[in-house]
Amino acid sequence: MTAPLIDPFQRAIEYLRVSVTDRCDFRCVYCMAEHMTFLPKKELLSLEELDRLCSKFIDLGVRKLRITGGEPLVRREIMTFFNAMGRHLETGALDELTVTTNGSQLARFADQLYAAGVRRINVSLDTLDEQKFADVTRWGRLPQVLKGIDAAQKAGLRIKINAVALKGFNEEELPRMTEWCAERGMDLTWIEVMPMGDLGNEDRLDQYWSLKDVRRAYESHYTVSDLAERTGGPARYVRLEETQQKIGFITPLSHNFCESCNRVRVTCTGEIYMCLGQEDMADLRAPLRAHPGDDGPLEDAIRAAIALKPKGHDFDYSRQRADGQMSRHMSHTGG
Ligand code: GTP
Ligand code: 5AD
Ligand code: SF4
Repeated sequence: MTAPLIDPFQRAIEYLRVSVTDRCDFRCVYCMAEHMTFLPKKELLSLEELDRLCSKFIDLGVRKLRITGGEPLVRREIMTFFNAMGRHLETGALDELTVTTNGSQLARFADQLYAAGVRRINVSLDTLDEQKFADVTRWGRLPQVLKGIDAAQKAGLRIKINAVALKGFNEEELPRMTEWCAERGMDLTWIEVMPMGDLGNEDRLDQYWSLKDVRRAYESHYTVSDLAERTGGPARYVRLEETQQKIGFITPLSHNFCESCNRVRVTCTGEIYMCLGQEDMADLRAPLRAHPGDDGPLEDAIRAAIALKPKGHDFDYSRQRADGQMSRHMSHTGG
């Protein structure tokens, strides 16, 4: 038996988020600048290298694997990688293989994702208004994403909608988005906007809509009861008694959840980030490439990185400024 991955705060690392590309076909205002410089292809881990890396993490006790980006489904031949990871579901080594997507490519890939063993996906969608959707994603078009969601449901995939809560943007859409998700049997999770990426034009403080207020907004429309269940992610869930719907809250700002953190992130170049809200990272590509037939140095590098996992992030808006700001864009680590 190999020893599991345990960090200095006794947290077991069982959840790996892998960003397979830094590219995206959208340019969401809180995530990317309009003109981004992307990595040259040779910097990227190949699909074979990603397979080797993820398989090593699974060997070391990772039970949940989420594929992210950028937009993961724009990476060429990405289904080869999903199919390869599917083998770990078959052996029982992995509990869940899943993806966080902007939905733009789902019409094309939904059936293939299901065939690879994916059963539940998260789709990022902040508004149901076409104009607002175009504004917030800059390059995205709502009808394309709605078509993708249809295809995914038809393929048998369960969907969770992730909406970043933005003051003055989707505040008044809360009832409409909630009803739309209820009608379609989808869960809905709200996320507090984090100070990531030096985007210059946008002020996180002005956009910040605390989920404490979102919860109050629900309480004024519905009977809200807390649920104990967890998906292994950071969301805390409530049930709306009237619709029996599950609503999730991801609250890095108003209620820090770092004490129960069970995850690390790997970027498409093989950097491991031990925390979304800290700069700490280590290179896994060098040990991976230097020893093609021997995973020993890779395992040592993973263990050394986990031993440096920080206690948590330092995001804080309470002093009326965006403390803990990260210069890294969210698309670098996939959220
Ligand atoms: P579920 O399996 O559905 O629970 O997924 P998840 O919430 O783990 O994954 P998802 O990709 O839907 O995450 C939604 C967003 O939550 C991310 O894009 C981040 O914005 C935020 N998030 C996830 N993990 C962390 C974390 O460790 N720290 C912080 N601050 N935010 C996180
Ligand atoms: N704060 C919170 N969530 C963000 N996302 C992207 N940038 C931010 C940010 N600054 C979310 C996206 C998507 C997920 C990958 O990360 O909306 O749901
Ligand atoms: Fe692309 Fe997702 Fe970032 Fe939007 S949030 S620009 S869809 S990676």
